[in-house]
Amino acid sequence: MRNLIYLLFISLLSVSSTQLMASSKMHLEPVEIDLSDKASLQRGAKTFVNYCLSCHAASFMRYNRMAKDLGLTDKQVAENLMFASDKVGDTMTIAMRPADAKKWFGVIPPDLSVISRARGADWLNTYLRTFYLDEERAIGTNNLAFKDVGMPHVLWQQQGYLENEHGHLATATKGVDSDYNQTVADLVNFLAYIGEPSKIQRLALGKWVLLYLFLLFLVVYPMKKAFWKDIH
Ligand code: HEC
Repeated sequence: MRNLIYLLFISLLSVSSTQLMASSKMHLEPVEIDLSDKASLQRGAKTFVNYCLSCHAASFMRYNRMAKDLGLTDKQVAENLMFASDKVGDTMTIAMRPADAKKWFGVIPPDLSVISRARGADWLNTYLRTFYLDEERAIGTNNLAFKDVGMPHVLWQQQGYLENEHGHLATATKGVDSDYNQTVADLVNFLAYIGEPSKIQRLALGKWVLLYLFLLFLVVYPMKKAFWKDIH
């Protein structure tokens, strides 16, 4: 019984506040985050730059840092993932002025640098998959995860449009991307990466630290035995 209470306590501690917030509202589509999957991160970066960076900045992220982490050269990033006016040492900012954004969308599209930490990957995954047609809205669409969101369905060409039939989404028009869920998963993987870029290094470093501690143990334990052998 004591063990059970202990377990319950630990599991409560490990549920983060964002999960609690999200789970009380709707079912979220889970997504796997794999920061070691460079190909996925590269695909996500491409989608982000082409479809999100026009409205949302990621101003904590520098292009050259991204190049290094994603296994690309500065040149590859400059040619494929940057606007001509940017320099490779710049952060991922946008040209749109906040006042214009406010005029066009009613709200300023938030910086997405740390959105994965604020919302959680599963929420982002669900959000990007659940835009649906809604005639009552000026922009023509709505979203299951974010009611009356000011953002249009920017990936409509990829996903097509969905219709909301009593809370269930059904395809109204088909998009060009037959693997849309994978496209979104890659994008969310990328958003998780920019939320905490140093995690890649930390994970890599962690293995070496553990190995070091293990080797140290092999040396120190016999030493301890030798030191204490006359006393015990
Ligand atoms: C045409 C401009 C535009 C584009 C392009 C765009 N967004 Fe948005 N986005 C917005 C606006 C405006 C909001 C704020 C919505 C609100 O608060 O009602 C928003 C909100 C969001 C939010 C919710 C933020 C929050 O408050 O939690 C996320 C996540 C998001 N966008 C991700 C993306 C991603 C990923 C892309 C690229 C696939 C993208 N957006 C492309 C305009 C845009």
